[in-house]
Amino acid sequence: MSIGSVGSHSMLGTYDPPLFYLHEQLTHVHTGKGLSALILGGTGAAGSLVLQEILASPHFARVSEYGRRITAAEKIVVGKEKLEQKVMNYEDLESSGLRDGKWDVIFIALGTSSITAKNRDEFTRVDKEYVVNAAREAKSSDPEHRQRLLYISAIYANPSSYLFYFRSKGLTERALAQLGYDDFIAIRPASFGGVHREVKRPAEEFLSTFFRGLTFLTGSVNLHIHLSRLAMGIRMVGEMGSSELPSGLATSVVSPEGTYTALINGSILALTDSNEAR
Ligand SMILES: NC(=O)c1ccc[n+]([C@@H]2O[C@H](COP(=O)([O-])OP(=O)(O)OC[C@H]3O[C@@H](n4cnc5c(N)ncnc54)[C@H](OP(=O)(O)O)[C@@H]3O)[C@@H](O)[C@H]2O)c1
Repeated sequence: MSIGSVGSHSMLGTYDPPLFYLHEQLTHVHTGKGLSALILGGTGAAGSLVLQEILASPHFARVSEYGRRITAAEKIVVGKEKLEQKVMNYEDLESSGLRDGKWDVIFIALGTSSITAKNRDEFTRVDKEYVVNAAREAKSSDPEHRQRLLYISAIYANPSSYLFYFRSKGLTERALAQLGYDDFIAIRPASFGGVHREVKRPAEEFLSTFFRGLTFLTGSVNLHIHLSRLAMGIRMVGEMGSSELPSGLATSVVSPEGTYTALINGSILALTDSNEAR
């Protein structure tokens, strides 16, 4: 079987996985075991594309979308048959069903913006508390069950940052690291491009245009990322896990709360480059 023929076909293009993790993943797929995935924040700008990616991926046999809202049926183009959706209340996690899900890979694209949240307390409630509490609830109590957690954080995430947004992301990462997942990966993108929202966010649009221009002028790949590339990269990292990432691509963050993996734009772009070039 040629490498090209085993790639998954997504709505965002054909994906041919690199050789180094092909065997393990194919074993999963061909033995019918497939991975199970949970996505939180699947109705968001980034999360909606990640959801499409994992639904289109043959590596995921079961996909669950839980959230305050869930994606409308007409927006699901492929993978409907493996999707389970549930409306949940982040203030009442005990009745959410997260504890019983036993997912292999958990994708968190949940978050708010400083424009949407009324104040810092509300921002922290969603950006940190909802994220960490839900991740804790979805963690299996079975020590034999290896689980992978991916969280969309942000570039410059740092618990000591003097900027509130980056401090919140840093603190959230650290709290997630403390939960003890077998593999925790923080994705740290910069400004999003290719964002489609029902309710426009002018400040986000301005920053996106600004950083796209700056990327063009400086040649830096770390300032701006198109959401389709980000979502593809997140899905690939979710399939591979830290141990299968090409060396030099990710950073290992060693913290008192635990050691985890972080990837910035450049890493995501490098990972997805081979895909895009086809
Ligand atoms: N925008 C950027 O340029 C940028 C750059 C770097 C990192 N990030 C980070 O990337 C992550 C995803 O960003 P995004 O722009 O895709 O987010 P988004 O479009 O605002 O989506 C956020 C998701 O979180 C859910 N959510 C928000 N507030 C909630 C609440 N109070 N209760 C329950 N669910 C709630 C939303 O659900 P509903 O559909 O129910 O509202 C949605 O599914 C965020 O953490 C963000 O900080 C963004």
